[in-house]
Amino acid sequence: MVAHERLQALSKQSMRLQEQERRQLARDLHDEIGQAFTTLKVNLQTIQRTTDPKRKTTSLNDSFMIIDQTVARVRDMALDLRPSMLDDFGLASAVRWYVGKQGERAGIRTKVDSVAIPHGLSPDALVACFRIVQEGVTNILRHAKASRMAVTLRPLKKGVKLVIEDDGIGFSPNEAMQVSGERSHLGLIGIQERIRAFNGQLQISSEKRKGTKLSAMIPFDEAV
Ligand SMILES: Nc1ncnc2c1ncn2[C@@H]1O[C@H](COP(=O)(O)OP(=O)(O)O)[C@@H](O)[C@H]1O
Ligand SMILES: [Mg+2]
Repeated sequence: MVAHERLQALSKQSMRLQEQERRQLARDLHDEIGQAFTTLKVNLQTIQRTTDPKRKTTSLNDSFMIIDQTVARVRDMALDLRPSMLDDFGLASAVRWYVGKQGERAGIRTKVDSVAIPHGLSPDALVACFRIVQEGVTNILRHAKASRMAVTLRPLKKGVKLVIEDDGIGFSPNEAMQVSGERSHLGLIGIQERIRAFNGQLQISSEKRKGTKLSAMIPFDEAV
């Protein structure tokens, strides 16, 4: 594909991807949050009507649990939409938190070495780094069948180095990139395009049954 065709395909796909994400979010809101409120309402009705103190306590405890779960879910959804943690705590902490949480949830051994970036990345570049980590980690959990993953983020002299590794089944990056460009699977292509937008470098090395290593370098912007 020539450059403008690739761009056209990419923009079509990003619209499709955006629609997909919205559909998913709508479903999450309806199914999970809607369901939680319905249950809370039933519990409140029980508490209001019952004279049995035991039932009251059970309904109360159940409600507290639902509230905790829902708060956590809303936080996750907000993070998917916009990593506000970036603004509040910075890239390094957001990465540490996100990778740690995903690893814990998936039950795989996780190492995060995430060092604060003093300066030199524009707000857009910070978001790009975080999105790359999100996509890389999601791919590991979705495809790699790994028992370990490791994410490194550290400032070098000229830019930020980002490494996302796993010890999973591995794949052929070239083949996957082509497929990624053709279907609505935008993950790897999305990573590539984000890095390209900042004049960075991307390397994906992967070996069957040995795992995958994605290394990226995003140069500092002198104006920042
Ligand atoms: N860490 C990984 N381990 C094994 N396979 C991977 C990994 N990352 C990506 N892949 C393969 O590359 C393909 C393309 O990835 P991607 O572009 O993110 O699309 P998607 O995740 O939507 O399938 C995946 O379908 C998977 O087969
Ligand atoms: Mg993916």
